[in-house]
Amino acid sequence: MGCVSGGEGTEGSRSVAIGDAEVAFFHENGFLAIDRPIADAEELAWLRVVYDRLFDERAGRTEGNQFDLAGADEEGREAALPQILDPARYAPELNQGRFLSAANAIVRRLLGPEASVGIGHAIYKPAGSGAATPWHQDEAYWDPSRDYTSVSVWMPLQEATVDNGCLWFIPGSHRWDVQPHRSIGGDVRVHGLEMVSPPTEGAVACPLPPGGVTIHLNRTAHYAGPNVSGVPRRALIMMGGLPDRPYSGSRAFPWNEAKRTARAERAATGQTP
Ligand code: NI
Repeated sequence: MGCVSGGEGTEGSRSVAIGDAEVAFFHENGFLAIDRPIADAEELAWLRVVYDRLFDERAGRTEGNQFDLAGADEEGREAALPQILDPARYAPELNQGRFLSAANAIVRRLLGPEASVGIGHAIYKPAGSGAATPWHQDEAYWDPSRDYTSVSVWMPLQEATVDNGCLWFIPGSHRWDVQPHRSIGGDVRVHGLEMVSPPTEGAVACPLPPGGVTIHLNRTAHYAGPNVSGVPRRALIMMGGLPDRPYSGSRAFPWNEAKRTARAERAATGQTP
């Protein structure tokens, strides 16, 4: 199965029309790849400048909002997979981006008029060395007492390829329960999670042009490979969906309680240890 089902829309346009077949594909498979850019070359160039500035300045580090998703996050050590949560807090101009309006239009088309997304986080995968983002379901990170219909809109600021770490999905995995997770490599100092029994077949890779997007639901299993290319892979992720609700059953995500990350310590003390 391919990623992209043919849709409507004009080459290079920022407002992307989503065809009925794409809406159906999203609800059937739990993800959708849109290869028509929602950001043009000029906006992408601006975003790369803002993005690199935030990582260079280590924005959010003190509050625990910039950290290594895949390593132990020790001071003075190169991060394997640096991430910034809520980058718009440090660069509010991101909230004015035309790409964000376009992403909101897509999400409303998929989930209805109540749905919305905002700037969520930024994940930087360094050239030639980026760690893989192991298989996971986003909901595994969240409060188990809430019930979600949420989406992540993942936008690369350059081409995303299998070699530099485009996303992979398991079609239909949005219907799974939240599967058992653990900190990556079983190391509780690591913030990032991985499924204990990752899927071994059926994964679909979704390469994208610069400014294209993938959209996936809160339980859709996904993965990104390491960046073995010669250029950094920058991705900006918009998050949102429908308002969450109380979870009707009873469940626990013990893998989150087990974590002992440097990031949480910084957030608690407000300073770099
Ligand atoms: Ni994810």
